[in-house]
Amino acid sequence: MGVGGTCLATIQLIASIPRPSSAEWVRNSVGTLRPSTNNLTPCEASEGTSAVINTIVDKVNDVLRLDGIKDTVSKNLYRYLNKKIDNSAEVSFLNYGFSPLEGEPVQLEPADERNRVYIQLYHHVVSRVDLTGRDVLEVSSGRGGGAKYIKRYLKARRMCGIDRQPRAVKYCNKQHGEPGLAYICGDAQRLPVDNDSCDAVVNVEASHDYLDVPKFLSEVRRVLRPGGHFLYTDFRNEEEVPAWKQQITESGLTVIEDENITANVAKGLADNTEHNNELVKKLAPTLLRPLFRQFAGVEGSCIQERFATGRSRYQRFLIQKQA
Ligand SMILES: C[S@@+](CC[C@H](N)C(=O)[O-])C[C@H]1O[C@@H](n2cnc3c(N)ncnc32)[C@H](O)[C@@H]1O
Repeated sequence: MGVGGTCLATIQLIASIPRPSSAEWVRNSVGTLRPSTNNLTPCEASEGTSAVINTIVDKVNDVLRLDGIKDTVSKNLYRYLNKKIDNSAEVSFLNYGFSPLEGEPVQLEPADERNRVYIQLYHHVVSRVDLTGRDVLEVSSGRGGGAKYIKRYLKARRMCGIDRQPRAVKYCNKQHGEPGLAYICGDAQRLPVDNDSCDAVVNVEASHDYLDVPKFLSEVRRVLRPGGHFLYTDFRNEEEVPAWKQQITESGLTVIEDENITANVAKGLADNTEHNNELVKKLAPTLLRPLFRQFAGVEGSCIQERFATGRSRYQRFLIQKQA
């Protein structure tokens, strides 16, 4: 079933621990890392309640921003979600998705149609450069569908996905692993990858959850070959966007393209509402379903409304390490 991304992505709680693994250009395993959480975005359910709900969510966010609490919540929530998914649904993506507002749709094999909205997000971000025959690293690969797409459709030579959730990594290797495509455990802020070893690094809807984004960016710069590309997308609350862009500028990497894709993501959520509702039914106990629907960003939810109104911004970057 696909999607998935939603619930998880939304809450953006996550975490886990690293382990060993096996991609050729990957060293050993890294130690246990510090996960993250995110900006639990507020909602504006209905007009009457929106102010109250936003205040509550902002307060919760303030608490979650305390690193210790954030790590604990994040780690346990993602662990729980991955376990639930493994037991009750086939989910290979954990993002909000993307729908084009114009132009031709991406050509997909019939088996991939159910994941169209999630794949479209990956496609929009990574198709900016030709990855044919390239060594590509995805940081925070989640349930692995994005890395698989890059390997199969975009013909990367070697594709490695890294995530800090051991259960997700195990699922990915079992479900998607093939020659030239491997998943390993590791932390975005301490990548178990050699210097100058990747032609491209991909990061989709995950960095809002990292405790130290500048450290992550310095790791991206370290592992990229000179001239290599960083294909990057994520969201922030609108007021956080300037500081985020400054972090990127200060990383020493060069921004080539910088695109606001919030409207596409809002449309993706709307297009995917039926799918997400079904997923919530499978994953969440009855009493928690209203909450999960909010997290999943189904149409009418706070999350979807935040993107639709521009209160949260979803941004895409094409970035390069200068030769
Ligand atoms: C919203 S999901 C996105 C997954 C995938 N990129 C996708 O679009 O389907 C965020 C992922 O980031 C991972 N993650 C969060 N913090 C991380 C960190 N510090 N290091 C590595 N992975 C992390 C989580 O385990 C989760 O799988």
